[in-house]
Amino acid sequence: SRSIFCIRHYCKKTPTKLRISEALSGSKFGANIKVQGWVRSVRSQKKNLFLHVNDGSSLQSLQIIASSDLNNPLLTFGCAVEVTGFLKPSPHQKQPVELEADRIRVVGECDPVDFPFKIKERHGVDYIRQFPHLRCRTNVFGSLLRVRSEATAAIHSYFQENGYTQIHTPVITSNDCEGAGELFQVEPQISEGDANENFFSVPAFLTVSGQLHLEIMSGAFSEVYTFGPTFRAENSQSRRHLAEFYMVEAELSFTQSIEDLTEVVEDVFRSATERVLTQCAEDVALFHKHVSPGHRDSVDDWLRKKFPIITYSEAVNILNRSTQNFVFPTKWGCDLQKEHEKYLVKHCGNIPVFVTDYPYELKPFYARDNQDHPEHTAAAVDLLVPGVGELCGGSLREERLDLLKARLEVAGLEDVYSWYLDLRRFGSIPHGGFGLGFERYLQCVLGVDNIKDVIPFPRFSHSCLL
Ligand code: 4AD
Repeated sequence: SRSIFCIRHYCKKTPTKLRISEALSGSKFGANIKVQGWVRSVRSQKKNLFLHVNDGSSLQSLQIIASSDLNNPLLTFGCAVEVTGFLKPSPHQKQPVELEADRIRVVGECDPVDFPFKIKERHGVDYIRQFPHLRCRTNVFGSLLRVRSEATAAIHSYFQENGYTQIHTPVITSNDCEGAGELFQVEPQISEGDANENFFSVPAFLTVSGQLHLEIMSGAFSEVYTFGPTFRAENSQSRRHLAEFYMVEAELSFTQSIEDLTEVVEDVFRSATERVLTQCAEDVALFHKHVSPGHRDSVDDWLRKKFPIITYSEAVNILNRSTQNFVFPTKWGCDLQKEHEKYLVKHCGNIPVFVTDYPYELKPFYARDNQDHPEHTAAAVDLLVPGVGELCGGSLREERLDLLKARLEVAGLEDVYSWYLDLRRFGSIPHGGFGLGFERYLQCVLGVDNIKDVIPFPRFSHSCLL
């Protein structure tokens, strides 16, 4: 009938735009669709033209089959295309769907000679890192970005589902939470006439941690968290340091034990990892196959086991009993170095391990004094993980006004932190929290050696590309 003809005619004229992940799901056989993406391979035979097109929605590219009449010299590896046609089952086992194209439009050309990535070549991460503006076009970096996005959502879900309130802590602040002096100072560009103007009237910095702002909120909410960029002017180009990195921070009110914190850290780690392993199975598998072979078994092993908890003093004893020759001293009172963290993780069975109760003097002013301990320690905790070292740091906070005041006085910070002392004056509560480095988390789950390969645009000393 005329109306059926019209529907067919209409469908043909207006193909539905589909993401490639949806097209690949196999639920739209027979549909007239349009996909937009970038060409990952082109092969021309006598009669037929074969393309693979990727749009970032999946590691898989969609196979497109067309008459060779649709070939065109601009259709090269890397170019942007819009393809319309019908989805049909494919005879190839590897991919059960293909798109039979009736139209291929080159939207953006790509010179395959100058393009830094070559068809069918597996480029190493060291090579692709040189192209921060183009590396999202590679399989490995596409997978990383999808995993990063899913892990972000998983972490937010964890906190939201467990009753935490998200706080947008400021990026610009006047405090140095960690007291380590690794601050980037923020100053406006001075225009003529304003030469003596101090924009904020006080020195202002990019935040090193949202902790102190979360502590303010923990005076009114029982559980709060923040997840945003933090900045450290560490003169380091190491494989686990960035000048700008994302931190997941939480603060728990009415908390009196380190175990309350370790439980949440372990829970966040487990729930985010389990979700990423299921929701991004193909992307994670690419890493575990090509970047860190064998790493999946390790991750599965961690998820099966409870993370052990040892004290700093036990850790020092373990190091002192070892036959390994460490470069740095293993004396009580010295900070644990990378080599020590590595040894401790191995000693505990190559799974993540919590180390608690560090020497008081090693921890910032806010850490709670363990007055009942024979050695002078603070109620602080670090989570050490295989391959990466310190993934998370936290502590109970000193809620007792007299002790906090005395410590700030010694540091000459009593005036700067008068507002922080106020928190202990007006309804002070025992509380504690932690900060987990998001890039180190991704390194740990994916088995990535260099932190610069798990963040879209790495910033570190002597490098701020783009
Ligand atoms: O141990 P940190 O310095 O702890 C704090 O900033 C606390 N104020 C957090 C809190 O209690 N709310 O840093 C926490 C984590 C580290 O364990 C590490 O994973 C990560 O942040 N981190 C870095 N990641 C990449 N590059 C750097 N330069 C980092 N510095 C710390």
